[in-house]
Amino acid sequence: MADKLIIFDTTLRDGEQSPGASMTREEKIRIARQLERLRVDVIEAGFAAASPGDFESIKSIASVIKDSTVCSLARANDRDISRAAEALSAAPRRRIHTFIATSKLHMEKKLRMSPEQVLEQARLSVRFARQFTDDVEFSPEDGSRSDVDFLCRVLETVIAEGATTINIPDTVGYGIPEQYGAMIRSLRERVPNADKAIWSVHCHNDLGMAVANSLAGVMIGGARQVECTINGLGERAGNTALEEVVMAVKTRKDHFKLDVGIDTTQIVPASKLVSQITGFAVQPNKAVVGANAFAHASGIHQDGVLKARDTYEIMRAEDVGWTANKIVLGKLSGRNAFKQRLEELGIELESEQEVNAAFARFKELADRKAEIFDEDIMALVSDEQHSH
Ligand code: KIV
Ligand code: ZN
Repeated sequence: MADKLIIFDTTLRDGEQSPGASMTREEKIRIARQLERLRVDVIEAGFAAASPGDFESIKSIASVIKDSTVCSLARANDRDISRAAEALSAAPRRRIHTFIATSKLHMEKKLRMSPEQVLEQARLSVRFARQFTDDVEFSPEDGSRSDVDFLCRVLETVIAEGATTINIPDTVGYGIPEQYGAMIRSLRERVPNADKAIWSVHCHNDLGMAVANSLAGVMIGGARQVECTINGLGERAGNTALEEVVMAVKTRKDHFKLDVGIDTTQIVPASKLVSQITGFAVQPNKAVVGANAFAHASGIHQDGVLKARDTYEIMRAEDVGWTANKIVLGKLSGRNAFKQRLEELGIELESEQEVNAAFARFKELADRKAEIFDEDIMALVSDEQHSH
């Protein structure tokens, strides 16, 4: 049987750190529900100690999500870890993700701590986090720019304290695929008891290599968890894009030989939901979820695709949730067609009354506008949700 690749989604934590992408608690819950439908293994719901709002959002998500593990980030100190544990307490499966920087630059200039102090802090925080859950993840921040000998000591220590996932962040997107992959392999070879933990990759896209670096971490390094976000949302140039990693591993299973538990038909609804909530448009030529990702404009390509789809298509649009032969919604459309489009867009209204109210607004809009687009429906539904 093929190994499983764990998909850890951090749209609600690292994605939200993107300037201008902050979300309300209700919006976060809608996204978390969609991530659960997508069947991500882990949802990093936020950073509990960052603000009372973040704490409440994690708490609400922990109480509604049943199938995915819910995780909170925490700096390596008792207060952050206690807040994370408290916010997560209702979740059937919960993870505390604690981190501390390990690069010389960050330790000296940001933390103003010696390497020995950082090592001790890492040890104590993993030990403390284990009192609340047996699912503890540790990240050495700026890991890809850290000294490998020092990293080995820190990682050996946290595994001995019970960390079950070891995540190596390429915090500033400095990594290069071969180098980053080799670094993870070397850590896994050198750290005693490395196989007691699942190794994870977390990459940023500053040089446009987040997906390539993550996949190198998997193939060269042997990582079995990828941290990623919907649409690659995230600080600065963003994080590893979930949809690209998942479809690469699925489409090239001959190469990766890994299983992913994702329901890929939920990818496009997830992408649209995140884009609509954050207001961050998806570029048309974005892999997998861009509006043109499956469009064929040239005559030769159109002719080829009509004769045999795989002449120019390596994936099926419907497999990632694009709906073929779309029904055009307008003033003559009925409630069922409207309801079906809501489902396709990953929108779950709480009651039939809400559906009726949204449908009435849709009809009003349709009187003024010949064709109603998905964006119109999303705006209309979010108005509906705000009115509560
Ligand atoms: O990029 C980073 O270093 C992070 C850590 C907190 C995991 O997001
Ligand atoms: Zn990050």
